[in-house]
Formats: sequence, structure tokens, C-alpha cells
Amino acid sequence: MSDEQDRGLARGLTNYGDRDFSVYLRNSFAASMGYSREVLKKPIVGIANSFSGFNNCHRHFPEMVEHVKRGVLLAGGLPIEFPTISLGEVFLSPTSLKFRNLMSMDTEEMVRAQPMDAVVLMGGCDKTVPAQLMGAASADLPAVQLIGGPMMTSRYGEERLGACTDCRRFWGKYRAGEVSTEQINDIEGRLATTTGTCAVMGTASTMACIAETLGMALPGTAAIPAVHADRLRAAEASGMAAARMVQNPIRPSEIITEKSVENALRVLLSLGGSTNAIIHLTAIAGRLGIRIGLDRLNQLSDETPVLVNLKPVGSHYMEDFFFAGGVGAVLRELKPLLHLDTISVTGERLGDRLEQDPGYVDRRVIATAEEPLEPQGGLVALFGNLAPRGAILKRSAADSSLFETEGRAVVFTSLEDLAARIDDPDLDIQADDVMVLQNAGPRSASGMPEAGYLPIPRKLSSKGVKDMIRISDARMSGTAFGTIILHVAPEAAVGGTLALVRTGDRIRLSVKDKRVELLVDDAELDRRRAEWTPDLVPPEERRGYDRLYASEVLQADEGCDFAFLQPIGSKD
Ligand code: FES
Ligand code: MG
Repeated sequence: MSDEQDRGLARGLTNYGDRDFSVYLRNSFAASMGYSREVLKKPIVGIANSFSGFNNCHRHFPEMVEHVKRGVLLAGGLPIEFPTISLGEVFLSPTSLKFRNLMSMDTEEMVRAQPMDAVVLMGGCDKTVPAQLMGAASADLPAVQLIGGPMMTSRYGEERLGACTDCRRFWGKYRAGEVSTEQINDIEGRLATTTGTCAVMGTASTMACIAETLGMALPGTAAIPAVHADRLRAAEASGMAAARMVQNPIRPSEIITEKSVENALRVLLSLGGSTNAIIHLTAIAGRLGIRIGLDRLNQLSDETPVLVNLKPVGSHYMEDFFFAGGVGAVLRELKPLLHLDTISVTGERLGDRLEQDPGYVDRRVIATAEEPLEPQGGLVALFGNLAPRGAILKRSAADSSLFETEGRAVVFTSLEDLAARIDDPDLDIQADDVMVLQNAGPRSASGMPEAGYLPIPRKLSSKGVKDMIRISDARMSGTAFGTIILHVAPEAAVGGTLALVRTGDRIRLSVKDKRVELLVDDAELDRRRAEWTPDLVPPEERRGYDRLYASEVLQADEGCDFAFLQPIGSKD
């Protein structure tokens, strides 16, 4: 067999002694799919297509994949599409995060096991892009991330609607009795009216911007709306780029470096982006042994301004961000803070990209570094006895009048307890209390759902209370807002201090000092710890993926990845 034939289809072939026989067998089975011998000599670009009927955000992938294929063909490669599992955010129980690691394993193993020289990863919805980047980082084959792109906005009367910040805004009004049942049913049909990911700077869009900043997606492609023709051109260009990488391989490990991860954190902070993205970026970087602690996040946050005026923090939508200049415009403003010698899948240095003409930038949507929306980053890590390994507050989405306060804890011990009592008219709660939710972290039965956005109890919301301090080991949707402290580590289910809080305790928050403290003395905490028993089904009594998850998932500060997926030597 010639070297030419060894390319592509012969890649990764297991040699049982008669290698040529194995190539011949593969060729004949490939021929059964209609491929000629000539075509099989081309470099093979796999296309990981996460289309699913259970993923509304990826509805356009059947069209988009045709454009990826054309790009691969035009650059002289052979495109071969393959499916991976997909994660449609709202259709997965108990929470999509639980399956992110599963999708990353599927992606990694299929990229490695099947004969391909490079891969295009088609993702979009919240957990899909991090899953694909985690898998690609571990497989370390040349890979291009193709983002699905955001939805367009819709209308309700004079109001512009975009999933899902406006979903929450109207639901809040409905709970407060300001919107009728008829109206909320009408709004339900208008919140999400095109394919694509949520229309605001939620987790999906934040991760898209991170993928572009890391260099794993083509420059300028993160924010293109899903239904815009530029999205199809980006698909074509991504296919071409992947095929070209076969000649000049650049591996994810050359692109995702400590420097590019820091750049991505800067962009996350300047976007006022999703809290979930910290977990995801930590997990992606962790696959390559890169660890950027929450202390470093705070340093970066203190010196990185918020520049992007998008919901849920600001007032615009993703389509506005695209037309305003997108990620490129943000990177240009942040240039003095960035590492400019990072590279993208094209091989281009970030510094060289930023030399180019920025084009039109709409300053209503993307502020200048000289006149930022906020002088400091949108996210901050808090420490203290309640969160020894850290917790996250999205300060850009919070009420700053609550930043230096002390209040009485009102504790909900589980999601079930929360659901049972939150709207009880007899619930003993005031607007200046601190709501605490326990047992909603990664090892809990619920698997760390987006439950950290505890609803304001109806007895208070009906009196006009819009925000309260809420603390949990859960996550929050990237489209939500409020003074909400999340990702408390260690979580309650493994005996973190959070598990020891009782209704009536005092809790002090100081965003200035980056502290969240339970004002209970150590002797009392030790006494409570001695009495504490985990509210948890042990892994041995669970089965299948659920068992794997329960025994392997790491805490939030380690990205909620599985311990056994870390690089060898970095984790026991
Ligand atoms: Fe897919 Fe929001 S549901 S991005
Ligand atoms: Mg989301």
C-alpha cells in the first residue's frame, strides 16, 4: 500500500499482523458506501454533527453541515459526517450538566477511534460546545469548532423578546400578578421563534465567544445569527480550515494554552458572561493540565472592564452584538490586557488579527475601554468559611445595594424542600433575609442544576420584592440575574460548611472583601459537623452512568469534570 493510501482511512488502524489486509477490508467497506479509491486517498475531515430532534438550538444543522462539506471538498479533503450525542438544554433531566462529560467522552473517543485527520465540531447549545472542546482537547487531533449561532429576537406588542431573559422577566410579572394567564400563554409562543441558541449573552453565547477567543473557532464566527447567510459561509470556511489543517496540523494543545485561557477569561469578564462558563472553561483547560484558580479570576476581574451591553446584564441581544462588531471588537478594546502571541486554528497570531481594520463598531452595544459599562469584570469569586474553595457571584447581574450586608439565613435543605415551601403563605421570611439552598451541587442527586436562581417567595414578590441574596451549591442559567451566590465549594452533599447552615444563623456578604461568612463560631460548627450525615445515595447503590457520575465528578472549582478524564499524573 502506498503512503497516499495510508492517509485518511488507514489512520489509527489496529495492526493484527497483516496491515494491508486491514486497509483492503476498510476500503471495501468504504466502497460499499459509494466512495471510490481515488476519493479515499484524500485527507479525511470528520464532522461531529450534534443534530438532534431533542435540540431546538441545532434545528438548522442539516443545512449547515452541507456547507461544511462543501468547504472540505473545495480544500481537497473528504468530509465524513458522524453523529454524537446532543444536549438540548431544556429537554434533559435532571440537568444538562450531568451529560456534558458524557458528550465529551463520546466526542473524544469517536474522534480518536474513527479514521480522520481533522475534525469540525458542530455545536451550539449550552453544554455542547464545552463538551466538544473538552473532547477535542483530550483527543488532540486538529479540530475546528463551528458554532451554531444565536436565535433572532421576536416581538410581543411593542416589546422585543429574546430567550430566555425575557422568559424570566415575563414569568416574574406573571407570578406577581402583572401579566394574565392568557397573556403568558401568548408570550410562550413568541419567546423563541427561530433556530439557534438563546438570544442573549447566556451560556451558549458566552461559550461561543470563548471558543473564538481561545482560537478554536474561526475569527469572527462566534456571534453570527443562526439564520444569517454568514453562518453558512462560516460553515464553509470552517470545513476549508479543517481540511487545510491536515497539511499543517495545529493541535488543540497548541491553541488552548495558559495564555489563551487567560484571554478567554478576560473576554468572559468583559462580556458580563455566564457563570456556567467558569465551570466549562476550567474543565476545558483542565483537560490539558492547565489550572487557573479563582484567585487569578479575581485578579483578572479587578482589572478587566465590562464592555458589552447585552441582556441579561444590559439591554441588547446577540444579533445586535453581531452587527455591532462581535468578539473582534471586544478583543480590540481589551488588546493591552491580552496575550497577543496566542494562535487560532488558522495559524494566525491574535496580535496579527487585531492589526486588521476593525470595521464598524456600534458603541451602544460594545463600549470602549476608556468608557466601559463597569470598570471591573462581571464575575467575582468569593471565599470565606461558607465557601473555602470558592463561590461565584455575577456582580454585573446583581443589585449592588446588597453587596455589603448581613442577614438572617432561611434554609431550604433540598430542591424538594424549596418546592414545597417557597410559596407557603406562612413561610417565615423577610426581604432582607438570605435564602440558602443546600444539596444541589455536583454530587447531589440533582447533579447541580440551574436552581441557584431561587424564586422570590410569592408573599414577597407580590409586594414588589425583586431581588434578595441567595446562596447555593447549584448553578444559574446564563440568562438569569439577581444577587445570587453560586457554585459554593465544597458542596453540601460532601459536608461543606453550606450543609451546616441553619435557619436563624447570620450570614455576612462583602463583595468588596470577596468574602461570604457564616457567623457561627467554630466550636458550634464542629458540633454540627459531628452530627451531620450526607443526604446522598452512595455510588454503590446507583448504577450505570449515574453511578459513574456520582463517584467521579469533581467539585465546581475543578470544572465538574470527571477525575478519570484528567491528564495522567495530574489527578489520582
Ligand atoms: Fe440551547 Fe438556550 S436552550 S442555548
Ligand atoms: Mg442556558
